[in-house]
Amino acid sequence: MNEIRIFSPATVANVSCGFDVMGFCLDHVGDEMVIRKVEQKGIHIVHIEGFDLPYDAKLNVAGVSALAMYDTLDLDFGFDIEIYKNIKPGSGIGSSAASAVGSVFGMNELLNRPFNKTELTAFAIKGEALASKCEHADNLAPAIFGGFTLVKSLAPLQVLEIPSPDNLYAVIIHPQIEIKTSEARAILPGQISLDKAITQWANFGSLIHALHTSNYDLIKASLQDVVVEPHRSKLIPYYDRVKEAALHAGALGSGISGSGPSIFTLCEGMQTAQRVADELKATYAETGIAFDIHVSKINTEGIRIINS
Ligand code: HSE
Repeated sequence: MNEIRIFSPATVANVSCGFDVMGFCLDHVGDEMVIRKVEQKGIHIVHIEGFDLPYDAKLNVAGVSALAMYDTLDLDFGFDIEIYKNIKPGSGIGSSAASAVGSVFGMNELLNRPFNKTELTAFAIKGEALASKCEHADNLAPAIFGGFTLVKSLAPLQVLEIPSPDNLYAVIIHPQIEIKTSEARAILPGQISLDKAITQWANFGSLIHALHTSNYDLIKASLQDVVVEPHRSKLIPYYDRVKEAALHAGALGSGISGSGPSIFTLCEGMQTAQRVADELKATYAETGIAFDIHVSKINTEGIRIINS
């Protein structure tokens, strides 16, 4: 096998109370990439569609993660990478993560899988860091492992797979403005009070328990973020109105997707998710800001081969 086409999914990081450690994987929304073995050594970005991104592998997220893997190997051939980007950079649904994991996943398949999922995540961290100016894996891990993931530690990298309740759906509303992750990180406080820390880790612990036990009421009670949301929500126009509308339409809860501006909502059942999506459409249409909406089951498979 010399060439592979893959679907690299969008992801939601943080999931309200799990800043920098928690994430889940979306279905249908994502990039496509083609990875090809070629005679010329090195990593070559040969085609990009969708958004204007650098062709220099050292300046491209997919290129940097590919090089992180490539440099550990002593190969007498190289790889061409084609990127068909559907996830807008700066949208908050893991655009850079999709690029970062796509290249390493594709190369690993063409090399007959010398690396496991955790090792692939570690290479992808290098690409993601180019975009967000710091190392974190909360978008990368769900893209590679699928479902919900918890990044237990970065050094050594340890990723835990958390079960997804069968009837859990996500609705994502993406206002068409750009928020750079690096800027959304810069506005966060360096320290938080003990009171807030206690509330946050209680919510996070109970979210993990709720996912393990498919307890939708407890998911609802746990989706609260007292640490990051109060700061970042100011960057997202009509954030409170969206949250209110989602809850009113029956959502379990909602929060900022990654560093925004996308807002995620979790719902029990497809019908509720569709109702929430309709309500959010109507609510956001009044703001005059362009947006798109996705309804997705939790994607438990993660990144996948489309054909080879
Ligand atoms: N955890 C990261 C953040 C995700 O919220 O800054 C975005 O890359």
